[in-house]
Amino acid sequence: MIRRVSPARSLLGVVELPPDKSIAHRAALLAALADGTSRLVNYSPAADPQSTLSCLRQLGVPIYEDEHGILVVEGRGLEGLQAPDRPLDCGNSGTTMRLLAGILAGQPFDSTLVGDASLSRRPMERIATPLRQMGADLTLTDGHAPIHIRGGRTLRGITYRLPVPSAQVKSCVLLAGLFAEGETTVIEPIPSRDHTERMLGLSVVELNGERYLTVRGGMRIPARTWTIPRDFSAAAFFLVAGTIVPDSEIRLPGVGLNPSRSALLDVLRAMGADITVENERSYGGEPIADLIVRSSTLHGVQVGGAIIPNLIDEIPVLTVAAACATGRTEIRDAAELRVKETDRIAAMAENLQALGARVEVFDDGLAIEGGHRLRGTTVRSFDDHRIAMAMGVAGLVAEGETIIEGAECARISFPGFWEVLDRLAGRPVAV
Ligand code: S3P
Repeated sequence: MIRRVSPARSLLGVVELPPDKSIAHRAALLAALADGTSRLVNYSPAADPQSTLSCLRQLGVPIYEDEHGILVVEGRGLEGLQAPDRPLDCGNSGTTMRLLAGILAGQPFDSTLVGDASLSRRPMERIATPLRQMGADLTLTDGHAPIHIRGGRTLRGITYRLPVPSAQVKSCVLLAGLFAEGETTVIEPIPSRDHTERMLGLSVVELNGERYLTVRGGMRIPARTWTIPRDFSAAAFFLVAGTIVPDSEIRLPGVGLNPSRSALLDVLRAMGADITVENERSYGGEPIADLIVRSSTLHGVQVGGAIIPNLIDEIPVLTVAAACATGRTEIRDAAELRVKETDRIAAMAENLQALGARVEVFDDGLAIEGGHRLRGTTVRSFDDHRIAMAMGVAGLVAEGETIIEGAECARISFPGFWEVLDRLAGRPVAV
């Protein structure tokens, strides 16, 4: 699908963002392993969290919506999953594949995890290494999916220091630890999103600047109601759009503001953005607030170091903000971007350069010399939802028309994104 975006005069309105994708995956997985029936309020309709549900259904977990639209998950307990009768299709979702692999490594049955073309290019050795140390039997395909997992192994607890800051690897090991003998400890030198440890109720020990997370094998998971806040990563597109389009004011109610996710807020404010945080409260154990963004002028900043994992998914749209700022923005220590749904450093560099931005590429990031006029042209999504949406935001300020090829992939995290953009711009909503 092609989306044509032209400059907006202003963006005005309220956006009800989709539920947090990371929390949704985890709520579904923990509910499936819980003893008893859990309820998931505000579960995400986006394609990735739906992939997690379809895999869990294949593993014999009854999941359905009640009459109020609340997702009901009949937990099977730690021992109750059933052997799937075909490969488990994780679609585009790295979180589904990596977290589920941790759970499946500890099952008495064999299983195979597959994904789409993009997911089948992403590195899986990073989870195979610790899982094998625990005694799991996994075969990858050239370091990638399909992942074949032979069941019936006795897993043992390990202590594992993460070589890359990755919440998916951390969560994979902790979930495998539920099925291991003894304790499993993950040491995190650089903090990544902390939803798994929060949701499992793990105690966190900080020692010499590192985080130690320990899970006890056989730990029971109680059934409960999970409420899922709105996704800060989805808010990011509107925080940038509302800043760079003149005469804008966008209100984003009930957005998750977990500090391990919301560093973009600090970076945009340091660049001069006008973002108000109102009504701070807690929802389902996560901090949330209403955000109001108004247009403002931006200046370039340096971004790097330990903050990077806390805004990793927001960097594509941050580069759009940087292209509209005065001066240079340099983003470093972000080599992980190269192994996301696509190589996001290369993809954003190519697209922004096509629009006329000045971009310098590094192995671990990119620099943007802002303030050069952007001109609409044809750009590609690279089948990556965040690239598609970031380019949608760029199209709101580029002269003429920006044509985004492969725009439909926004549905991976944000069904209805393009319609929301049209509505904010006061345009008839093209469906
Ligand atoms: C996620 C962790 C991050 C992030 C991804 C979601 C998660 O990936 O980029 O979108 O839900 O745990 P890594 O663990 O690969 O950094």
